[in-house]
Amino acid sequence: MADEGVRTHAATPVLRGGTLVLTHDSRCPLRRHPFQEPTAQASVETHPSMKTFTKPLVLSVAIVMALARPAFSAEPAPAFTVLGLPPLATADVQALAAQLPAVEADLVSVAGVTRAVGDVDPLQTLADQLGYAYRFVTVSEDSQGTATGHALLTRLPVQAEGGPATEDAGYLRLADDRYVVAVYAGGEAAASALPARAEASRLGAPAVLLGGSPSAVPGFAATGMEGIDSAGFATADEAVLPLHDATGQTLQARLLSLGYVSSGAQEKPWMDTTLAADERARLLLGQMTQDEKFQMLRSYFGLGKDGGPLPEGAVGSAGFVPGVPRLHIPSQQSADAGVGVTNPGGIRPGDHATAMPSGPATASTWNPMIAWQGGATMGREAWQQRFNILLGGSVNLQRDPRNGRNFEYAGEDPLLAGIIVGESIRGIQSQHVISTMKHYALNDMETRRNFHDVRIGEQAMHESDLLAFEIAIERGRPGSTMCAYNRINGIYACEHPYLMNQVLKQEWEFPGFVMSDWGGVHSGSKAALAGLDQQSAGEVFDATTFFDVPLRMAVGAGVVPQARLDDMVSRILRTMFLHGNFDRPPQHQAIDDQAGFASAQRTVEEGSVLLRNEGGLLPLADSVKRIVVVGGHADKGVIGGGGSSMVGITARGGNAVPGVQPTTWPGPVMFHPSSPLEALRRERPDADIQYVDGRDAKAAARAAASADVAIVFATQWSAESVDLPDMQLPGNQDALIAAVAGANPKTVVVLQTNGPVRTPWLRQVPALLEAWYPGIRGGEGIAALLAGTANPSGRLPVTWVADESQLPRPHVPGLGFQPKQPAVDEFDFDVEGANVGYKWMAAKGLVPTFAFGHGLSYSRFAYENLRVSVAGQRLVASVDIRNTSDRAGADVAQLYLKLPAGSTTPIRLVGFNKVMLEPGEQRRIRIEAEPKTLASFDTTARQWKIVPGHYQLQLGRSASEPLQTVDVQLAETVVR
Ligand code: BGC
Repeated sequence: MADEGVRTHAATPVLRGGTLVLTHDSRCPLRRHPFQEPTAQASVETHPSMKTFTKPLVLSVAIVMALARPAFSAEPAPAFTVLGLPPLATADVQALAAQLPAVEADLVSVAGVTRAVGDVDPLQTLADQLGYAYRFVTVSEDSQGTATGHALLTRLPVQAEGGPATEDAGYLRLADDRYVVAVYAGGEAAASALPARAEASRLGAPAVLLGGSPSAVPGFAATGMEGIDSAGFATADEAVLPLHDATGQTLQARLLSLGYVSSGAQEKPWMDTTLAADERARLLLGQMTQDEKFQMLRSYFGLGKDGGPLPEGAVGSAGFVPGVPRLHIPSQQSADAGVGVTNPGGIRPGDHATAMPSGPATASTWNPMIAWQGGATMGREAWQQRFNILLGGSVNLQRDPRNGRNFEYAGEDPLLAGIIVGESIRGIQSQHVISTMKHYALNDMETRRNFHDVRIGEQAMHESDLLAFEIAIERGRPGSTMCAYNRINGIYACEHPYLMNQVLKQEWEFPGFVMSDWGGVHSGSKAALAGLDQQSAGEVFDATTFFDVPLRMAVGAGVVPQARLDDMVSRILRTMFLHGNFDRPPQHQAIDDQAGFASAQRTVEEGSVLLRNEGGLLPLADSVKRIVVVGGHADKGVIGGGGSSMVGITARGGNAVPGVQPTTWPGPVMFHPSSPLEALRRERPDADIQYVDGRDAKAAARAAASADVAIVFATQWSAESVDLPDMQLPGNQDALIAAVAGANPKTVVVLQTNGPVRTPWLRQVPALLEAWYPGIRGGEGIAALLAGTANPSGRLPVTWVADESQLPRPHVPGLGFQPKQPAVDEFDFDVEGANVGYKWMAAKGLVPTFAFGHGLSYSRFAYENLRVSVAGQRLVASVDIRNTSDRAGADVAQLYLKLPAGSTTPIRLVGFNKVMLEPGEQRRIRIEAEPKTLASFDTTARQWKIVPGHYQLQLGRSASEPLQTVDVQLAETVVR
């Protein structure tokens, strides 16, 4: 029985701001928190019948008032309040909509909620109505897809949260104006991981554990309310609330008030971990001198100026901001980047890191869990190499396969890119390392990147690149954002008031700080007033350190208000507090190489895309005994991208193929020591596997002719700061593939490229695998896929256009090294606007070589019974998926919305779900649509609005392969 033996007291009505609210006075505890000293305060008991109010709320409140002690009318001591509700019928949820606002509970907790696979969750709709954040933490799921779990609604801002991996799920960090609380829910599911998780993420905050067995986690104790433990609070009081269900019957509604420990006057009160990050920043700011404030606003190049010594205290990498020891402010040490922790030129002797697969590889997994784990790997290794900021979280959209930096990004679709990069950010930050989302915004080409101007309309930018950033922020809550080099509609990104002040900070409520890209600042006061908070390495990369003397003068003269200066500093400090920089500073430790390898290999195996497999040539049959491997330095390693993100030193040493041009910036061309040839030999010790380097196409063809199967490895190197001249594989590789395929009809091509390339030999080649830049376990991952010990489940995050003629800008002058024509200074993105990639193809009726979302498996899957339910902005699809083959494998169910005829955008990805199925297994799965992808951005109302009309939902295997369709009518809705 929920409340057996638990004494209760009533909630106290108080008039606040003209409305009657129920408050809960923690000064009058009925149940004392087990680990608190008794206080002298009196306690009040109310009659047990109060638990069974059946009257409407107003009447109930009157009764409670009559019973309440007059002393309760004063403002109560601050407390964190948790409203515990029983599982509710849909009608009861509706009844609560009118009652909950008056309760003002910080957290509403509903345990044991069942959620049918295809239904919109009524509690989520309730949260939408109330403007609360909503989380459903799955505890178990039956074979029909019905989930049982813990529903949480909160009116407080979520400042950080756990990722999708089981061991990290169900953690929320909430804060009001002054206090912070760590909440852990769904404890039953990951009970064994809980103590470590709470230890790592609590950071000294008071904490609430929902649904764990009492005292399962050290330091937590029962509060008296069943299923809720807490730690770090002063008091715990329970009250019964007179809430009623749809029929007017009383609900089992109990309110727990957990009194905060009042922070005593400490010498350094900002070091009090029970306070919210913003409050700690406020307290600290008040102690800082003007010089100390300015010191926070500029970083130094962490590698030293002009090859000179490192700045004092810098551990050696991209950026360094000295700390203020007198105030306990740690230094900021930032490292690149999105595919692992770099060690440029070996500046930190002895340090190495895991070279993770590139951005498109992670995006191709369509698996948020893989992205989170990759992020956590990089974050952990950053922390262990003394960094508290990782400049990872790159979410620029791929508009053109020639963009030299596509390998750092996550493809062309804002939903997929936003989710994948958001999860990577969340993973990084789970390790007490701030992640910097970049490059904000529309830095989608590298040619003349420091100057070029991107032209694009407001609605189009919101529905494309900005949407990717918006979703990444919602998912990942990055602590910082890096403004880009380029100009957008004539204004430099790092002095763009619309992008930084209005959109990022005001409309998206981004509470973190904006740092510039290295060499992206062109002004002091102008940039500061537009929203830039920190200049990066200006002494090396910009005309001057604008955020030093020029900004000091501007503040002195009142051009930049002191309040703005304080805001800049506060944003940096609160981010450092929030992510544990003060309380869990990095420590130099050996990294776990094996854990890194495992994370990297899982990503390659799920992120390589089997594009073509005629006649089932792959996986290699047991009967294949003679294999010739050709080209791509496959005997040595796998290629990686160049520039600031390059991880050159791994546990396996440095470059496996040194000396390939260019050897200086943005080189060197890096081959990670991970030989596909050697790995394949290990996979297939029974086969004779020979290697031919491929420099001589005829010799390669001769060798291939006598083999059972030939495998050609082709590479395309790409790097930061320069675009690719075209979509052609460099050197003689097209000719090599054609020659080998001509000699042996059983030819497999493995590509390691920045993105889509022309494939003139495609019809001659029965099997094609795209492995992107696959990282330090690339060789092993590719070999496992070829041999069939891993089953491909990657899906394209980009449209594989046939050639440049299908692009919005077929000819762009000045691309590549030493271009024949001068480069342009303007990119007209209005050509395609928001119709990036598959949307462009659909709008123009173009047929790509491989569609967005395409990818093959060694298993086969069938779909049936697509159903869709809609309520307000929430759309949930469910479908039966069956593995009709005899191999275990994963498929990605993709949900597309076909917009009504006449819409500017013809089709959008609105949701997806990657599912792993055993042979013959069938499951009904749920796909929730991201509300913004159902909507258009109204630039006047500054809102996402669903346009009413008839739409079609397509459940597909790619953007151009619908398998099941359902028509839906969407009502006009403003997305919240
Ligand atoms: C790149 C950033 C990088 C920074 C620091 C810049 O050139 O654009 O992505 O984080 O350098 O190395």
